[in-house]
Amino acid sequence: MLKQLQKNIIAEIEKASELDELDKIYKRYLGRNGELTLFFRSLKDLPEEERKIKGRLANEIKEKIKNALEEKSKKLQDSKKEDLTSSTEGKLKKEWFDITAPGEKFKLGHLHPLTLIKREIIDIFQHMGFSPVEGPEIEDEWHNFDALNIQKDHPARDALSLGKTLYLKEEIPVKQKTKGKLLLRTHTSSVQIRYMEKNNPPFKIIAVGKIFRAEATDASHEINFYQVEGLMVDENVSVSNFKAIIQEFFKRFFKKPVKIRLRPSYFPFTEPSFEVDISCIVCQGKGCSVCKNTGWVEIMGAGMVHPYVFNSVKLNPKFWNGFAFGIGMDRLTMMKYKINDIRLFYSGDLRFLNQF
Ligand code: PHE
Repeated sequence: MLKQLQKNIIAEIEKASELDELDKIYKRYLGRNGELTLFFRSLKDLPEEERKIKGRLANEIKEKIKNALEEKSKKLQDSKKEDLTSSTEGKLKKEWFDITAPGEKFKLGHLHPLTLIKREIIDIFQHMGFSPVEGPEIEDEWHNFDALNIQKDHPARDALSLGKTLYLKEEIPVKQKTKGKLLLRTHTSSVQIRYMEKNNPPFKIIAVGKIFRAEATDASHEINFYQVEGLMVDENVSVSNFKAIIQEFFKRFFKKPVKIRLRPSYFPFTEPSFEVDISCIVCQGKGCSVCKNTGWVEIMGAGMVHPYVFNSVKLNPKFWNGFAFGIGMDRLTMMKYKINDIRLFYSGDLRFLNQF
């Protein structure tokens, strides 16, 4: 019966897979009220001979069980240690990375070439005493046409065929008070009107912004592009003031001396009016495809502010005079960077844009 008990206990120990299971086995058999302990206690009631034999046997069993428990407990502790190290190693292997490898670079954004040029132009004019101002891209007929002496039957006002103006279909809510139909401004000259309505001369302003014209697009035409509008009004402004300022501007912008040439032209809001050409930057005036072999490139319209315009904004034309000009900024940028197609600016093509 004792032998059977021993067998059972040893089997239980073998099966144990946790250290506290061993603890429980110990308590169950060798603890204060353990089966074997009780058996030892019961020995004293036995006749001497039997007590001796059974006592020795029980002691042997007790020894064996203790040894088995100890051995097993050692085994379990060892395998636990092994588990721990092997899993840490696994983790380390999985999480390993090379701290000396070069990192991935963040992709930084950069400004659009037209934005860069816009800032540069404003900067140059600011250094010459011009203040940057802005006006709305959605305009009304009064600011875009009427106040600028562009008559009702002027072909540019026609929404169809010949005309280049994009009118808005419905009245949409806009912040400013409107006079006439709403449209996308066809030039930045509307900003002259807005500024003069609110400010008294003398002043020198510069307005750089988007304008819109219903054009068939090609390498040199877009339906929206940028204009740089300049306006200087004082008591005694002349064409020579204009020439000096614009010549200095081009010199600073292209970083070399540029020849300019004024040709007589017509704008309803200036008198006299000029078309301004600059000597071709690409071929230095020798003749190339950009200047169509003439050595000159038409770059802006300009003139002396028409008395009609001063009257529109309630300034006295007997007292004030001034010059105004409008430069095509896209063409200027194309000249500076030798770009041959205006549509590239609005294509969103990163191969083009990343060069700036
Ligand atoms: N507004 C004219 C245009 O769009 C340019 C211009 C501006 C001409 C100022 C004279 C004076 O072509």
